[in-house]
Amino acid sequence: MTKPLRIGVAGLGSVGAALVRLLQRRRADLRARTGRDITIVGVSARSRRERGLDLGGARFYDDPAALAASSEIDLFVELIGGADGAAYDAARAALSRGVPLVTANKAMLAAHGLELGRLAESHGAPLAFEAAVAGGIPIIKTLREGLAGNAVRRVSGILNGTCNYILSRMETEGLPFEACLADAQRLGYAEADPTFDIGGFDTAHKLAILASLAFGAKIDVGAISIEGIQSITLADLAAADELGYRIKLLGVAERSEKGIEQRVHPTMVAKAAPLAQTMGVHNAITIDGDAIGALTLVGPGAGGDATASAVAADICDIARGDVAPAFGRPIDALEEAERVPMQRHEGGYYVRLAVVERPGSVATISTRMAEQRISIEAIMQKGKAKGVTANEVVPVVLLTHATTETAIREALALAVADGAVRETPQVIRIERD
Ligand SMILES: NC(=O)c1ccc[n+]([C@@H]2O[C@H](COP(=O)([O-])OP(=O)(O)OC[C@H]3O[C@@H](n4cnc5c(N)ncnc54)[C@H](OP(=O)(O)O)[C@@H]3O)[C@@H](O)[C@H]2O)c1
Repeated sequence: MTKPLRIGVAGLGSVGAALVRLLQRRRADLRARTGRDITIVGVSARSRRERGLDLGGARFYDDPAALAASSEIDLFVELIGGADGAAYDAARAALSRGVPLVTANKAMLAAHGLELGRLAESHGAPLAFEAAVAGGIPIIKTLREGLAGNAVRRVSGILNGTCNYILSRMETEGLPFEACLADAQRLGYAEADPTFDIGGFDTAHKLAILASLAFGAKIDVGAISIEGIQSITLADLAAADELGYRIKLLGVAERSEKGIEQRVHPTMVAKAAPLAQTMGVHNAITIDGDAIGALTLVGPGAGGDATASAVAADICDIARGDVAPAFGRPIDALEEAERVPMQRHEGGYYVRLAVVERPGSVATISTRMAEQRISIEAIMQKGKAKGVTANEVVPVVLLTHATTETAIREALALAVADGAVRETPQVIRIERD
């Protein structure tokens, strides 16, 4: 038997503690799979409090970078989190000494993935991050290795369980956004400051990583157009239902001859699509490849055990010496892809308008749409209250055929300026395939 793999684990929170338990529980099987013992020899956390974990003889380090730089370890596992600070310092300390790094830290990879990848390459150290996207779903290995024979056209996914939980509950129970968010916080799905999740930023970090792997391109988080779910109302969910859609927060990365488009926004997804059927805290990702067609992976996108499962898979690969380049190819072979800005996005749109109740309002909106060559697929006047008098507003929902973001924004701005529409129109993009 090869000598044991000595690992250092920094971060003993939800994922770190679950990893310690998993490595103990699965010890014999992991030894059989990898041909060696996997032993935790060092740990680090902010506090030394009792955690109910059997850490054996592992040495405690107050400074995770000191653990990462210790000659006692063969592999460093970073489970602290955060783009910068302790996690980043420790990651660099490990790689620059040639020590393999396993991390679940999407924020750090989105911000510094290329630099860390280069550091890993120059020191011959593996860098692995299966747990950084979609928790327990093995999406990194699928894109990097399983689908290597495909030209990937598109990756789209539900990458944030908190948002999917909130939208699912709003839809199925008719509860307002704030109540569902409060429940998500109470159940530990959302942070005390939930902006990162509901504002779409967490999804964007994960999308940036997936787009790099899918298209062989450099991580480009700055290219992502980001909208969160805060503006979604029960009226939108009810209209979506009536029209045969569900509203999901999607991250979508698409490659065309124009370049790569990356966007995060609430999306109308046809009810029959696998992404629409993914409810609650689950994540799902659909990949369109030229050889395989559409492939969807669905599963737990977060949670200590599910995420530790992905971390353990990376540890096993490294224990066996089975190591692929972090982003599927050498960093210098990653393309600097052309960005396709959101204004050039083409697709169908759902629009909910507060239309002023007077003759000619709807005609004005139709004219503004026609001027921008936008063809309307359906128009519904929603819930006109009895006794609505002139100049009050009534909700009107429109669906458009494919048009551009610029055209729809221009048409709506003019309709508002004409006085036919009050309030900011609600605009939700439709994914039709
Ligand atoms: N939770 C999930 O479901 C999930 C899913 C996918 C990916 N991830 C990623 O996994 C990573 C860990 O997430 P988590 O949910 O396990 O976080 P967590 O529960 O907040 O745990 C973070 C751990 O890091 C330790 N820590 C914080 N600052 C430190 C410092 N300066 N030095 C040493 N240790 C420090 C904390 O120590 P104390 O315990 O002493 O405070 C804690 O043990 C993050 O990158 C996250 O994005 C998490």
